[in-house]
Amino acid sequence: MISRDTIDEIKSRMDIVDVISDFISLKRSGQNYKALSPFNNEKTPSFYVVPSKGIFKDFSSGKGGDAITFVMEHEGMSYTEALRFLAKKYGVEIKETVVAKEEQEALSARDSLYIVMNFAKDHYKDLLVNHEEGQSIGLSYFRERGFHDRSIEKFELGYALNEWNHLEELALSKGYSQEVLEKSGLVIRKDEGKHYDRFRGRVIFPVHNLAGKIIAFGARILTKEKDQPKYINSPETEIYHKSNVLYGMYQAKNAIRKEDFCFLVEGYTDVISMHQAGIENAVASSGTALTEEQIKLIKRFTDNVTVLFDGDAAGIKAALRGIDLVLKGGLNVRVLLLPDGDDPDSFSKKYSSTELKEYFQKNTKDFISFKIDLYAADASRDPIKKAEAIREIISSIAVIPDPIKRSVYIQETSALLKIQETVLLTELNKMLIGERKKLQQEQPQEGLSVDFPVEPPASTRLDTAGMVQMQERETIRLLLNYSESAVEEQKLIHYMLQEMDEVAFTNPVFNEIFETFKRMSNAGQEVDELYFLENGSQEVKTTVADLMTSRYHTSPHWSEKYHIYFPHEKEVIHDMAYSNVLRYKFRAIQKLMEENLQKIKLAVSEEDLDNYLTIHEQLKNAEREIAATLGIVVAK
Ligand code: UTP
Ligand code: MN
Repeated sequence: MISRDTIDEIKSRMDIVDVISDFISLKRSGQNYKALSPFNNEKTPSFYVVPSKGIFKDFSSGKGGDAITFVMEHEGMSYTEALRFLAKKYGVEIKETVVAKEEQEALSARDSLYIVMNFAKDHYKDLLVNHEEGQSIGLSYFRERGFHDRSIEKFELGYALNEWNHLEELALSKGYSQEVLEKSGLVIRKDEGKHYDRFRGRVIFPVHNLAGKIIAFGARILTKEKDQPKYINSPETEIYHKSNVLYGMYQAKNAIRKEDFCFLVEGYTDVISMHQAGIENAVASSGTALTEEQIKLIKRFTDNVTVLFDGDAAGIKAALRGIDLVLKGGLNVRVLLLPDGDDPDSFSKKYSSTELKEYFQKNTKDFISFKIDLYAADASRDPIKKAEAIREIISSIAVIPDPIKRSVYIQETSALLKIQETVLLTELNKMLIGERKKLQQEQPQEGLSVDFPVEPPASTRLDTAGMVQMQERETIRLLLNYSESAVEEQKLIHYMLQEMDEVAFTNPVFNEIFETFKRMSNAGQEVDELYFLENGSQEVKTTVADLMTSRYHTSPHWSEKYHIYFPHEKEVIHDMAYSNVLRYKFRAIQKLMEENLQKIKLAVSEEDLDNYLTIHEQLKNAEREIAATLGIVVAK
């Protein structure tokens, strides 16, 4: 909605050093700047800013990009939010492209909801500390629970008077409209026309969005009335969609990024107590079952989640459901169960901050050990229990989207349960295929969203998926950094483009970059990294910034796995391009083999079959030859 002109204006005025310096202090280092990573805890700085290119790169977290990306990452803002933030900083007037009238109205309607919610929050806060009823009932309740004033302020806790129309009348007198009060959920109107405040005689927990604006309230009862729910919450409104929100995310987001993991707890009071105990990377799903959107929200800040629940049956059930959802969202999950009868709130009050952290560290399990302990305490002796444990663990592994991660977990399970990997893989493949069939029946027209099952391991199994990823990444990196270097008596870019023309890249971002190189080269134009940094999508920019930096090392892991070692890049550019192309050919051959295998299966005449089998032999030989040159071992 922000016009192209405005965006260009912001980009032309923004200065990456200036922008980043608002958040962290940078130290000059030659042409560039250095700092401790704001995204991770570290002792030696690995966060770099390259002013000449307008980019930053954080080697500890892998994040990188331009000033807009930095604001998005650091502040958890959306692209538009970051643009607005920078426009304000640089005094750029925002011109919106013509928005439909309804959209404009929806926007201002939302604004008025934010304003009235903020008014209510301020009022509830005021009542808690300044009104007699607030003090004697609300504040003394919080004190009794051990909440410090600092926590009360940090979470902006409040109190709603036990009167039917107190807030409504005050709001009306201040000029808020009846309509907005009802839309915000603060006032309830019944069919017969009666209306009254939703929250009465309860302590108030405001729910903030990522920018710190109030979007909802939770209100806890203080008496023991039987037929009243313990909490009353705001209804869904135009600014509050329960399934997209995690309580405490606003207060926790920086700590989550720093610690690079996030505790997931159940309730309002758990979050507050954790903070008070010095553990600030905690958020709550607030009583509702965890949703996919909530997982995506966490993923904006970290890939690691620890679910922290009571050790009772309900807690275990919630933990199990949480595990699969988190895994499905592509995140890593660990589990921490508290002793039966304790929740994070009660538990954290029994121990000092140090003891607590120690306990957490000692008792956190990865989900596999958690499930093993849960289902198979004596599995080693009871084969039926063991089988059940295996199925339970595999069913969680099956929901993980990344095939490489899946195989790592299979290896771990194999080691822990002392069961051969092949057995586990067979079980996993059965589940994946079952899942695929189900998906196909449900949505037959759509493509399969489940990856092809993992191949059973040969002792010298080649990690094809990993190799493809690496080959694609390396191609793009070479193109970005050395496209003009000479290889085989021509420019590297021409050599690579000419040799790689058969199989599309699997990674969409790499593919986009590769296609751009191709298009521009065909049009006789040179492309360099700056072209992508200026014109690419946000994802392309981040990827390019990531790959173009000189401080690139192949991880020892890759070099061990694929026997690749880069002495001095510039000197061996020819060899690098050559092996990269070979790797690509290797992959093209594998694709041809797959296609040919299909034909073998479907062959109807002997002659055809002979023919295909000969082709298979030839391909297999070519595969072996390339593999030998590259020094990799191929499964039979
Ligand atoms: P809990 O009952 O564990 O509440 O429910 P709590 O936050 O720990 O509160 P205390 O410690 O008893 O005071 C967990 C979460 O479930 C939601 C709330 O979000 C609560 O924080 N909940 C619970 C409701 O929305 N309504 C209810 O009636 C009960
Ligand atoms: Mn609780």
